[in-house]
Amino acid sequence: MSMVEKRKSEHIDICAEKHVSSDYNFWNDVFLVHNALPELDKGKISLSSKFLGVKLGAPIIISAMTGGFSGAKKINENLAAAAAEFQIGLGVGSQRAALAHPELAGTYSIVKEYDVPLRIANIGAPQILEWGKKAEEMANKAIEMIGANCLAIHLNFLQEAIQPEGETKAKGALLAISDLAKSIGIPVVVKETGAGISGAVAKNLCKTKIAGIDVAGIGGTSFSAVEHYRLDESRKKLGKTFWNWGIPAPASVLEVRKSCPKLPIIASGGITNGLDCAKALAIGADTAGIARAFLRPALLGTEEAKRAVELTLEEMRIAMFLVGAKDVKAMKGAEYRITGASRDFISTL
Ligand SMILES: Cc1cc2nc3c(=O)[nH]c(=O)nc-3n(C[C@H](O)[C@H](O)[C@H](O)COP(=O)(O)O)c2cc1C
Repeated sequence: MSMVEKRKSEHIDICAEKHVSSDYNFWNDVFLVHNALPELDKGKISLSSKFLGVKLGAPIIISAMTGGFSGAKKINENLAAAAAEFQIGLGVGSQRAALAHPELAGTYSIVKEYDVPLRIANIGAPQILEWGKKAEEMANKAIEMIGANCLAIHLNFLQEAIQPEGETKAKGALLAISDLAKSIGIPVVVKETGAGISGAVAKNLCKTKIAGIDVAGIGGTSFSAVEHYRLDESRKKLGKTFWNWGIPAPASVLEVRKSCPKLPIIASGGITNGLDCAKALAIGADTAGIARAFLRPALLGTEEAKRAVELTLEEMRIAMFLVGAKDVKAMKGAEYRITGASRDFISTL
């Protein structure tokens, strides 16, 4: 097993078995205002929506998680089966492993066997910097590998800084993203991986040709926490120190929306149910992304993965019923309140 395969496998084991969440889930600070007289029938609520020009059965994306080691194939297959059944989006994990070791491509390309409406390829900003002039060629290989209709470029400098083997050369990343977004023929989304995107960063990203931002703020999986478990004793403390580093996910959505009023936004980071997805829409996102909450079901099997998605959609429908929103457009206009730590954070903007 190569070092990358070992790392990918460890990430799945750690995320499935250990406590890796930030101490605070900021979605609990967001309240949708209850409508005691919703004046609509729950059975008539529609979750269908469009994202990046693609029709979705619900405004939900299974966020990038895996690929690149043998056990990942079944996880991606189960997630793809669930995404196809409910016509939601699906991201695969960083494809760097298969770009370096083509024999691992099948652990990602399995998702092509399923009718997933939005298939999102995934490469890292550190890699496009490393690839230099070959970045476009490598990105196209990643896209082809899974038949993607969207490319995510992930920003994971928190993780890279904590990892002993991390790549911490970040200079030139914005320009590299800008060049790739210009030359790649499909929509490019820039995504964080659990530390959030600020209004200032979004403002710079908005000037490029990217098609959307996935905020992936703090509140859920913390990659500092994940790496904490992989560090040897001499560096373990680093993972603890930065465990809660980042911009709260809901605050990140509000900031990005303010900086980029028209840009498609994926809200993610700590979203674990359909109620959180509804909250995400109310505060300004177009779609919600869920990673770790779907990992355990996907490890258990296809039916478990499908059931987890089905339940999420039902939770979303209930939330929409209780605010009186008949469809996604109405949900985006629903009244909300922000309390607690998120409110404090936002008030300092
Ligand atoms: C096991 C695991 C592996 C991940 N690997 C990747 C990856 O390869 N590329 C990426 O862009 N994000 C990756 N992520 C980050 C997620 O896509 C997401 O942004 C983050 O986990 C926050 O969402 P959550 O709180 O719902 O887990 C991974 C997350 C998990 C849990």
